[in-house]
Amino acid sequence: MFRGRSLLCLLDFETHEIEKMLDVSFIMKNYVYHNNVPSPLSGKRVALLFEKPSTRTRVSTELAVSMLGGIPIVLNKQDLQWSRGEPIEDTGRVLGRVVNGIGARVLNHLTLVKLKESSGVPVFNLLSDLSHPLQALADLMTIRERFGNNLIKIAFVGDGTDNVLLSLMAIVAKLGLELHIATPKELKPREDLYKIISEIADDTGSVIEFHEDPYDAVRGVHVVYTDVWVSMGQENIAEQKKKLLQNYRVTSDLMNYAVKDAIFMHCLPANRGEEVEPEVIDGPKSAVWDQAENRLYTAMAVFSLFI
Ligand code: CP
Ligand code: NVA
Repeated sequence: MFRGRSLLCLLDFETHEIEKMLDVSFIMKNYVYHNNVPSPLSGKRVALLFEKPSTRTRVSTELAVSMLGGIPIVLNKQDLQWSRGEPIEDTGRVLGRVVNGIGARVLNHLTLVKLKESSGVPVFNLLSDLSHPLQALADLMTIRERFGNNLIKIAFVGDGTDNVLLSLMAIVAKLGLELHIATPKELKPREDLYKIISEIADDTGSVIEFHEDPYDAVRGVHVVYTDVWVSMGQENIAEQKKKLLQNYRVTSDLMNYAVKDAIFMHCLPANRGEEVEPEVIDGPKSAVWDQAENRLYTAMAVFSLFI
């Protein structure tokens, strides 16, 4: 089903394939907790390429490859000839000769496509300007740990153009869940991508709606999700975005509008005091450390299925 394919965007996968990735993530967590992880990547080499900083993704992917018996090789852009102008296609051709898979965190999503085409081996999106599929899988895993497979309602409060939000929208649409997005009208997601997502949502019965008022979006939801206002690579538009998003902070007061046992989620890293109040992210409703831990199991699942 997956062997030899790349994971650049969850929109490229059928609902049952996403369910399979989630099922295997839970199996991997169980293996780790019982100290009996198998070695499906035995002898397999995986390059992990970073054009931007990372803590969770770096740790989870490098550990995932090692724990599954493979050989990870972490490559930071500044150490590669790529940083001196060697074309990414040449980098891909070389890596394709010596590794069995490539994970890459890139500024421009197109770089992932070029890596995939030039290397001929499976390529995994470890975050691009467009999306963050491994994060969305770990988030769904976290939500199911708290709420089971129920059809829950999620609110996202913040930047409607956010890469983590796009993957969240994709997984919500594929799984038939409900998502309320609170964002200013100036920060709506890209039209073309939203069109694809809303067509999928129509098929699966998923509901994705937009609100300008965060209180309208959060009323009655089970999950309140946010991400930073300024993503890596957007430093030039930081002031403009911060101004637009001033009223889109997750506060304790806002959390009170969600259901009683609602949780707070954030992919991390967070800017306390900006997109979220410290009392929320460090409080009893916060599920952020579970999300971070689950990144390991989803990386293990995806590598074991695709490579
Ligand atoms: N959530 C996430 O991808 O974190 P890192 O940037 O630390 O990898
Ligand atoms: N939106 C954030 C996510 C980091 C994991 C960024 O792109 O910087």
